[in-house]
Amino acid sequence: MSNLRYLISPRWSSDIRLDGKTAVVTGANTGIGKETAKDLAARGARVILACRDMAKAEQAVSDIINEVGNVNVVAQKLDLADTKSICQFAEQVYNKEKYLHILVNNAGVALCPYSTTADGFETQFGVNYLGHFFLTFLLLDLLKHSAPSRVINVSSVMHFTGKILFDDLSSKKRYHPVKAYAQSKLANVLFTRELAKMVEDLGLTVYAVDPGLVNTEVTRHMMKPLQLFMKSISVLIKTPKEGAYTTLYCALTPDLQSGGYYSNCAQALCSRAASDDCTARKLWLISCHLLGIRWS
Ligand SMILES: NC(=O)c1ccc[n+]([C@@H]2O[C@H](COP(=O)([O-])OP(=O)(O)OC[C@H]3O[C@@H](n4cnc5c(N)ncnc54)[C@H](OP(=O)(O)O)[C@@H]3O)[C@@H](O)[C@H]2O)c1
Repeated sequence: MSNLRYLISPRWSSDIRLDGKTAVVTGANTGIGKETAKDLAARGARVILACRDMAKAEQAVSDIINEVGNVNVVAQKLDLADTKSICQFAEQVYNKEKYLHILVNNAGVALCPYSTTADGFETQFGVNYLGHFFLTFLLLDLLKHSAPSRVINVSSVMHFTGKILFDDLSSKKRYHPVKAYAQSKLANVLFTRELAKMVEDLGLTVYAVDPGLVNTEVTRHMMKPLQLFMKSISVLIKTPKEGAYTTLYCALTPDLQSGGYYSNCAQALCSRAASDDCTARKLWLISCHLLGIRWS
């Protein structure tokens, strides 16, 4: 059984401490994000749980404090489906924090029925990718000021099936939940690649992560039979704690390849589409245009 677990999730541990460091983890009230936040807190970091539901966020804060005994863990409201909320979150971070060493862009919505964000973007594209793109843009000065610092974008192996539909990024012509999810996760890898180039030599490094197949609430929008199937194979997939390993590996391990894609705590090959510099640049420029920002 332990060999099987090793195949599902290679063991990883590190004794690196984060005393005096500050981290933001989006979508940290449950699943992979909560385990990521807990581990960072256990290492002594100040951790900000950036969540849209403050009741769930406060519960997660008290769970983490009770488990790891670090009281320097706080919740702050962030709805990635609303650029106003993202601005308010960033403003509070600048008002309260002197430093930001680790930004984990973890929150995600998967395979939901068609809906749009407050700004009219298709929800999976808007939350998983564009919301995190905007959040990173707003927090960039603090990240640079805190260098060495890191940004970790939680993507997925599903990015392999993704295509960036430049003529229909928000799926207005046609919506397919799986394709929209895959597009958003491909966009995360392309963003990682382009951002790494832009901040080269500034002490800020950027990584894209595939957490693997993890037993979390990510199945909430899936059809009942698929949810039951996932439950029935839950012993064969990663626990949320195991699902957080690669994110933590990228947050902590020295001398990783900035701009790289990581899976099972090692650098991995991403798709050909995700390695295309022209697509990465084009997506970057269009994202700036959609958000009305200048980022060059
Ligand atoms: N689980 C897997 O097998 C798997 C595989 C590959 C990649 N991933 C990726 O891993 C990341 C974490 O997923 P998970 O498996 O831990 O899923 P999860 O248990 O469903 O957690 C997702 C988190 O994202 C938050 N979120 C959703 N929409 C948000 C919004 N508009 N603003 C702020 N937060 C929002 C959720 O908040 P609420 O609780 O309020 O909804 C929740 O905290 C996601 O990016 C996902 O795509 C997961």
